[in-house]
Amino acid sequence: MTAVPPVNDWTIDWDHHDPQWVDNPFPIWDELRSGCPVAHTEFLRAFASVSLWRTVAQHGTIGETDVEEGDTVMMAFPAACRDPDVFENADQVIIDRHLNRHVAFGAGIHRCLGSDLARLELNIAIEIWLRHLPMFELVPSADVTWAEGAIRGPRAIPVRL
Ligand code: HEM
Repeated sequence: MTAVPPVNDWTIDWDHHDPQWVDNPFPIWDELRSGCPVAHTEFLRAFASVSLWRTVAQHGTIGETDVEEGDTVMMAFPAACRDPDVFENADQVIIDRHLNRHVAFGAGIHRCLGSDLARLELNIAIEIWLRHLPMFELVPSADVTWAEGAIRGPRAIPVRL
């Protein structure tokens, strides 16, 4: 049986990018069951779901790109959360990752107002899921479907219990 994380992502091929889940999945879940305190933070980073836009107020340069007043700029928080210059092994889900200054909730003055509630909900969801459904696997060859756009996430993840 191969355990899969309860959230998934079209950018990750679990069989090739994240051998820790595939080769040795159960210690990871055991760690989660024992209340790994930083796991939810890593899920937020690896599966960041929100991208937003800003309207440029005045001419300037972002990185190497010039922007003009009125331009629309996408804040690709999920991409920033996988920045290899910031995160070691950025495409791996490392549930006890301790250096984890992700931007899944944005940054600066508009940073998410509900982040504490979101963290609480996520921890409770993981705890309740693992308490009631401790063993599960992704249905082989099943289609995971996704909501796309500014707020992305899985719509259907067929699992076998
Ligand atoms: C995992 C769940 C959540 C994620 C990933 C998330 C992410 C974000 C992000 C990326 C922003 C934009 C930051 C920016 O514009 O720079 C944002 C803004 C915001 N979020 Fe969340 N959010 C979550 C849950 C919640 C919840 C549960 C609430 C309220 C109960 C909430 C309320 C808000 C509000 C009010 C803003 C606007 C803040 C502002 O513009 O000043 N969010 N969130």
